[in-house]
Formats: sequence, C-alpha cells, structure tokens
Amino acid sequence: MIFYFSGTGNSKHVAEELGKLLNTPVKNIADYYDEVTTLKKFSIGVEKDDFLGFVSPVHSWGLSKSMSRFLKRTKINYQGNKVFAVMVCGDTCGKAREMLSETLKKKSGIKCDFVCSIQMPNNYIVMKGFGTDSDELAKQKLSTAELEIPQIADAIKSGKTFDRYVVGGQPFLKGRIIYPLFMKFTLGDKKFFAEDTCNGCGLCVKNCPEKNITLQNSKPKWLGHCVKCLSCIHRCPKKAIQYGKVTKEMGRYYYKKGDS
Ligand SMILES: Cc1cc2nc3c(=O)[nH]c(=O)nc-3n(C[C@H](O)[C@H](O)[C@H](O)COP(=O)(O)O)c2cc1C
Repeated sequence: MIFYFSGTGNSKHVAEELGKLLNTPVKNIADYYDEVTTLKKFSIGVEKDDFLGFVSPVHSWGLSKSMSRFLKRTKINYQGNKVFAVMVCGDTCGKAREMLSETLKKKSGIKCDFVCSIQMPNNYIVMKGFGTDSDELAKQKLSTAELEIPQIADAIKSGKTFDRYVVGGQPFLKGRIIYPLFMKFTLGDKKFFAEDTCNGCGLCVKNCPEKNITLQNSKPKWLGHCVKCLSCIHRCPKKAIQYGKVTKEMGRYYYKKGDS
C-alpha cells in the first residue's frame, strides 16, 4: 500500500507509477481527511506481504503538513512490511526524510527501510524570488523522473541501496529553523483571492485536498486551514486565483500525462 499527498499531481504520479511497478494499491491521504482531522487516533491495516510506502511533496525543506499530520494521527497496523518513502521535490529536500522517518518511528514504531528523493517541476510560486521552472527544465525533470521511477521500484523490491536524496545546502538551518517558522507563520490563506475572470466553476473547491475552499456568491472563499499545497492556484482553468501581488506574472503548473 502506498499513501500519498499531492497538491499539483507530481507526488500522485510518482505514487501511481510505483504502485503499478510494485503491484500494490495506492491511496490518497486526502481521502482520509475527515478521519484524520476528527478522530484522535485512526487505524489503517496493511496486508502482511505488502509494501508500505509514503510519497509526499517537500515543503520548506521538510515534510508537507498534511503528510506530517497523517503520520502523527494514524495508527498503521504494521506487520513487518518493507517500508519506503519517496520525497518529491522541485530542487532540494533538506530534512524532509528525517522528519518522515522520525515521525513514523515515534508515532507508529515503524522503521523506514528506504528513502529517496525525486525531482519534479517546481510549484512554489507564492513568494518573490521563486516560481515555476522554464518549460525546458520542467520537461527535463519529467523525463528524468520517468527513468528514475522504475529504478526506485527495482531498488525497493531488491532491497539494494539507492543513494539518491538531494539534501541541498544548509539542511539544518532550512529544515530545523526555517521549516518550523514556515509552518507557523506562512500557511495562512488570507492573501488568496479570485479575480473577476473567475466563472465560479468550483474546480478549486473540488481539488482542495484539505476541504479548505467553499463557493460564496460563485467565488471561492478560503476557510483558514490551508496547508499551501497550491492546488487551487495552479489548477484554476481561468488563472483567476492569485496570491497577494506575487502571482500575477508567475506561471502555473500541474502534472499532466504526456508532458514528459
Ligand atoms: C509550500 C511549498 C514549499 C515548497 N518547498 C520546497 C522545498 O523546500 N524544496 C523543494 O525542492 N521544493 C519545494 N517545493 C516544491 C515542491 O516540493 C515540488 O514542486 C513538488 O514536486 C510538488 O509536488 P506535488 O505536485 O505532489 O504537490 C515547495 C512547494 C510548496 C507548495
């Protein structure tokens, strides 16, 4: 069983491809949103001979808030399965693997046997100085990923070491100092708004994995518990969703089959 979280489809794609290659079911943790947010502890069983995998985007050189919360609140009925995690980044991962392994060990007593990273196109556009990749770079990352996914699956199956995790510079500063500040101060959704070109199609509501958007007078209204996955802003077919003054000139991205 592979559990994934995804804002713009990169992690979903990686999880689904690994699921096919490892012949194991794939679950979107957004489907457990109600259980995870309302129950104190919620249990999930995994078949004895199955894999147990986690695929998550890297957020601020650490673990995405949704995956972190899922690991903290879910009791996984582990039966000695082979455990792996794939961190899906745009560039570098900092302390994401440590956060995943530590949370899994602490909350469920499960040791992660295998962790690697994979680069996919960047989706962080809500801060000056960041942005989507050029078309050429995005294409290059996608085609490299298509080659790496089967290699990752082979390594998981055979138990071989697979030394591919892009830490990047200053991992302690980024992962242990910037990450907690990022989680505390930047996850708000007050700066999101929809321009007049919004036609009230409601795709943002449907796509939000955190049930954080509703329609009010045919316009999206954010409800204050955003995790900054950026699904809404990237997938709006009218490019009507903006974040403060930063995103007007920025590109949009979400994973589409055939782009690589
Ligand atoms: C809030 C946020 C923070 C991010 N931080 C990082 C980061 O620290 N390092 C990195 O390489 N990519 C970072 N990214 C980019 C994503 O990890 C990357 O685009 C990933 O492939 C998105 O996966 P998804 O489509 O499954 O959501 C960040 C994206 C978001 C939305």
